[in-house]
This record gives sequence, structure tokens and C-alpha cells, in this order.
Amino acid sequence: MSHPRVMMETMAKTRIEHVCTDCGAAHPKWAGQCTSCGQWNTLVEEVALADVPIIAPAAGPACSIVDIDPLVSRPTTTGLGELDRVLGGGVVPGSVTLLGGEPGIGKSTLLLQLLAAWPGRALYVTAEESAQQVRLRAERLDAVRPELWLQAETALPHVLASIDDTKPDFVVIDSIQTVHDPSLGSPPGSVVQVRGCAQQLVNVAKRTGIPIVLVGHVTKEGSLAGPRVLEHIVDTVLAFEGERHHALRLLRATKHRFGPTNELGLFEMAGHGLIGVPDPSQLFLGDRRTGVPGSAIAPTMEGQRPLVVEVQALTTPAPPNVPARRTTQGVDGNRLALLLAVLQQRARIAVQQQDVYASTVGGVRLVEPGLDLAICLAIVSAINDVPLPPDLVAFGEVGLGGEVRQVANAPRRLNEAARLGFKRVIAPRTSPAPDDGLRMLRVATLPEALAAAGLIR
Ligand code: TYD
Ligand code: MG
Repeated sequence: MSHPRVMMETMAKTRIEHVCTDCGAAHPKWAGQCTSCGQWNTLVEEVALADVPIIAPAAGPACSIVDIDPLVSRPTTTGLGELDRVLGGGVVPGSVTLLGGEPGIGKSTLLLQLLAAWPGRALYVTAEESAQQVRLRAERLDAVRPELWLQAETALPHVLASIDDTKPDFVVIDSIQTVHDPSLGSPPGSVVQVRGCAQQLVNVAKRTGIPIVLVGHVTKEGSLAGPRVLEHIVDTVLAFEGERHHALRLLRATKHRFGPTNELGLFEMAGHGLIGVPDPSQLFLGDRRTGVPGSAIAPTMEGQRPLVVEVQALTTPAPPNVPARRTTQGVDGNRLALLLAVLQQRARIAVQQQDVYASTVGGVRLVEPGLDLAICLAIVSAINDVPLPPDLVAFGEVGLGGEVRQVANAPRRLNEAARLGFKRVIAPRTSPAPDDGLRMLRVATLPEALAAAGLIR
């Protein structure tokens, strides 16, 4: 019989644990809910990582903060203005960035464009598409250049070897869920593989100073290991979002060790790749028809970026004895329900027997309280069949008492509205003085706002 300790060690090597695909927490037993993050049905069986040492290399001895050269980690601009804006200037040496997004949203396209503009040698590891497919896309994006190196490979040891061989200044791994390290045991795409491979790549970035971008798929079903398990080990997490059927793409940093996380990058997916949208308000208002009931314009904020968007509402009488429908697109459904209740109770607008449809225009999703007032105006304009004045914008949060409250960044909202040529603004009572050419209609309550817009007397 073997020595008990030896037996335990052998057992430890093949230990099975249950890992949460969302947060990465390991549990000895399966359960319906992860006790660490509270998600349901996210535990999957995996070979434990216990005997795989993942130790970051020593970065050098401790030294005084005054002796550290901050210039070493200055960002390199990517040549894509909207991406630079989100990253706070560009890519920092030795940084690891996770670019997450649903399949087909444009992650590979964005990165290929980034690599096309990169000033040095770049290595693009394609673990999903063949080198030929990438070459074809690169032609479409005008990204073919000699210093862009391609490797169609899924085995991490080969990837690490070619980083050593080609000595790139920039590496993209597309995607982290499809590379695997055979020595880790688990199947490709498992939490152990994703985390283990990412950690090894982080080690390479920190040791060599080469910035690395990892692509991570987020699926609604969560069938692949969610990139959330990686959030702790990377420096920056970027989320690439958008409605599939709209061309607009939004890029946000949800974690960023080198700068602020509240900047928004906007792109449009076109025939030759992604085009930055420096003036989104113009884009959102481009197809606007004035004089139509149910349309209101709101100066809103996305992070630190003012966006003037159109909110539309349509109402039709609900059939008798059927609950009225409330349908939204780009607007929060719960918020709409709340605003309808306030309209009914505090402004005496009969919305109960109306089917209400509310949406933002252009595929942008807004969950910002500053939009409340414009949603209310659009609904009442639709019910009364009276268009709002074409030169009018409105912002403000609507409270349950029917009061109109101030929201953050009022001056920037006002500036943006003035820049786009709007002449009148319905705003909370405490709003600051506006720019020249903008007339303020200050309101304290929702009925006052409806009256100021000419919708009620
Ligand atoms: P892709 O970058 O492959 O998405 P991801 O890597 O996130 O899965 O983008 C795929 C979509 O983008 C595809 O539906 C085609 C579209 N597309 C364009 O519209 N224009 C282009 O120039 C390119 C390259 C792709
Ligand atoms: Mg892709």
C-alpha cells in the first residue's frame, strides 16, 4: 500500500472541482448557485489548477517611488482617435487589454485596423479564423503591410515561441477562449484554460514590455468561459457593444489602470471597416423629421460625452380588457413604466388605456435619468398628436412626486444643444445660465414642463 501522503498528492493532481464560468470561483461540490458571485447555473466541472504554478516573474527589487521613471509607460497612440480617447491616449507598454463583445460585433475588425496603423512590428494570433481569411479581411481594410505578422495557431506554447522569435512590439490574441495550453489538462475554452493561458500572456507582457490585447467573446448563453474571470488579471477591460442591426458601435472601458473609465468611443461599421464618429449628435439627428408628433430631443450624457439624441414615442388605444402594452428599444422598460405612472398620477395624462412604444433613434441605448423629461414629452406629444417645436430640447430627471430634478453635467448638455443650433431648452429649475442663443425654460414640475412645451395649458 502506498504511503497515505503520496496517495493524497496523486489524488490532488487529478482533483475535480466546480468552477464558476462567470467569476472563476472554485467549489469542491456542484451547486445550482455560485456562492461567490451569486449567479445561477454557472458551475462547470473542471480539473483543478492546483499543480500548475502560475507565478509572475520578479519585476526587480523594491526602490523609492522618486527613482521610478514614469516616461517608460507613456502610451503609444493607436492612430484610431476613438480608441485613443477610451484608452486615455493610447496603448501603454507591457499592458494587457481584454476586448470583450458578442460575436460579430467587430472585435477582429477593430484590432486589424489598429494593427494596420501600428508604428512597429505586430503579431496577430488568429485562433479562430485561418490566415487566409484574415488576409482577405486585411485587404478589405487596407491593412496589408509587411510588419504585420500573422499566426494561425491555437496552442499557447507555439504562440509564446513565436513571440520570442518574431519579437513584435504589439501582440493580439484572437481569441483567448480558443487558445489552449495542453499542459493545463482541461479542454479548450474552459475556465482553467482561459485563465491559465491569459496569466501566461500577462507574464510575457510584464516581462518584455510588449502590450497584448486579448479578445474575449461574451455570449448571452455564457457557453464559453465568461471573460469576467479575466478581469482581475488584465490591466484594461474594454467592452465593444452595439445593436447588430445598426451600424453604430460603442466602445467603453469598464476597467482601466492607466486612465479614466468614463470615456466613450463611437464607431460606425462601414464597408471598409470601422469609422470613428467624432460628432455622434450629428449622426443621431441626421434622419430626423421635424413636425412629427411623438418625437423629443434630449441632450444626454454617455460618460463624459454629451450626445444629443432623439427619443420617439408612439401610443395607440389598447383593446378593452387587455393589459396595455409597454414596449421599449434603447430605453429602460422599468423607467418607462415609472414615467407613465407619474404622467398618470401627477400630470393627469390618461396613459393607462394606451399601448406605449418608446425608443431612442440610431441604436443607442441610454439608461440615464436626464432622459426622463424628453421621454415624457415624447409620450404626451404622441397622445395629443401635437408635435414639439423643432428647435426645442429638454433634459431633467422626473421624480415620483412629479418634480423635475437636476442632473449631472448640465453645462455640457447646454453647450452641445447650442452647438447643434437648438434655440430653446426645458431644463430643471436650478440649471446654470446657458450659452448665447439658447433660451431657458426653467421648470420645477412635470406639468410645468408640459405647459412650457405647449402640450397642455
Ligand atoms: P468581426 O470583426 O469579425 O466581429 P468579431 O470579431 O467581434 O466576431 O466583424 C464581423 C462583422 O462585421 C460581419 O458581420 C461583417 C462586418 N463587417 C463590415 O460590415 N465591414 C467590414 O469592413 C468588415 C471587415 C466587417
Ligand atoms: Mg473575431
